Amino acid sequence: MLNDIERVLISEQEIAEKVKELGQKITNDYKNEKLLIITILKGSVVFAADLLREIKMPVEIDFMCISSYGNDSKSSGVVKIVKDLNQPIEGVNVLVIEDILDSGNTLSHLTELLKTRNPKSIKIATLLDKPDRRVAEVEVTYKGFTIPDEFVVGYGLDYGEKYRNIPFVGVLKREVYEKE
Ligand code: IMP
Ligand code: MG
Repeated sequence: MLNDIERVLISEQEIAEKVKELGQKITNDYKNEKLLIITILKGSVVFAADLLREIKMPVEIDFMCISSYGNDSKSSGVVKIVKDLNQPIEGVNVLVIEDILDSGNTLSHLTELLKTRNPKSIKIATLLDKPDRRVAEVEVTYKGFTIPDEFVVGYGLDYGEKYRNIPFVGVLKREVYEKE
């Protein structure tokens, strides 16, 4: 598994420090407000698990599983809900947790959809931001790292469902996805 990684882009320690900082900001911003944290499966699961424990106030959590029609390294912009929330979000402060913002298509479609359900507020936290490939504008309130236009895996992120359990964010060797 590690043989397919060209180099470490963000180390475990850098991630841990950033997650702590984001958790403090979120705790500070919402203070005693009610907050529902929506984790987008599957890529955000590792980030969310760590971030949740750095938020020092009561929160509720829920999950959504979405997939975009398209191949693995490019999203088409049409999102399909594979698993929806278990509860209505009307009047609720919502924080969506994503692994990576790339073209922006996934998050812009998702936020439009969630807005139709009339939440009190909706904000986004993303671990990674790859601005070079942005086509849809998305407002992100909590951002971990801005990264160059390279395909990364680990810390939840996959290529063909592999590498999610690598504890750091690494650049995938080109030969891994070019040979397919
Ligand atoms: P967007 O709709 O183009 O913003 O794509 C977001 C989704 O594409 C993420 O949730 C990931 O599943 C996937 N993605 C984009 N870039 C990468 C990457 O570098 N590594 C792994 N997955 C990625
Ligand atoms: Mg993926």
